[in-house]
Amino acid sequence: MRRIGIIGSGKVGCSAASFLLAEADEILLYDIVPRLPVGEALDLQNAAEALGLNVQVKGTSDLSLLHGLDVVIVTAGFGRTPGMSRMDLLNRNLPIIEGIAREYAGGEDGGTVFIIVTNPVDVLTYVFWRRTGVERHRVAGLSGVLDSSRLKTIMRSRGIRVSGLSSFVLGEHGENMVILRDRMRREYGLSDAELDTVQSETVKAAAEIISMKGATVHGPGASIARMVKAVLSDSREVLPASAVLNGEYGIRNVCLGVPVEAGRNGFRIVQEKLSENEESMLRKAAENVSKVLGQIGYGAG
Ligand code: LAC
Repeated sequence: MRRIGIIGSGKVGCSAASFLLAEADEILLYDIVPRLPVGEALDLQNAAEALGLNVQVKGTSDLSLLHGLDVVIVTAGFGRTPGMSRMDLLNRNLPIIEGIAREYAGGEDGGTVFIIVTNPVDVLTYVFWRRTGVERHRVAGLSGVLDSSRLKTIMRSRGIRVSGLSSFVLGEHGENMVILRDRMRREYGLSDAELDTVQSETVKAAAEIISMKGATVHGPGASIARMVKAVLSDSREVLPASAVLNGEYGIRNVCLGVPVEAGRNGFRIVQEKLSENEESMLRKAAENVSKVLGQIGYGAG
């Protein structure tokens, strides 16, 4: 049985569910808003029947039912509106993540892998980990799969096909995104000017979509699904994701986008050789996340 829980039945949670209909035996949608998850679950069940899939989709407003699952995806919380940064969501989303973490602090979910999506994701993945005390490799935040897909979209629009889902975007899922420029220069022969453009367009990619349609939905939904599939199939593929660092890349006490090997036990950090410049950008991103964690009482020590 492959059982997935999705906390937050908004657009991103439901998009992820739709991309996962063929991958699960059971999908449990939760939302604090009564009836919404039941309605979404029925709609998705209809979708599954239309596609001839055998999954069971259920909706609930009782979080205590989301235990003992293979994967739990946390999408609950507020999204950005035009002009906001991801960090601007912190004050509103922090208590939501702390509340959900309380539900999982009992230690009875040792077999579950958690994927955090709520923004600011690096900060809140760390908060979730600290509050629940789950093993650090069992939790990761959605970041680089989505950011790398955006980078690939931008490259495609310039006629360059980037194959695979290499970890080209690490660091913070936000203003301090780290594009592995030296690797991209090596593999695709981009000039500094081209790299500058690709970098600034990738950082702004979500804001641009939000300015047109109010939210990003399917990019995040499919990126979540990609991570979940890797976990459920124990594929051990290397993906970028926001992981709890404990000395890897010389960084600790934060979550930050790094390459991880994704499998049934979660996310094992892979230490790749980065250039000096890439490493210093990663450290700068870590300092930014650390500073915010310190301000909200989750600093080191
Ligand atoms: C985005 C949100 C999920 O980048 O942070 O679309």
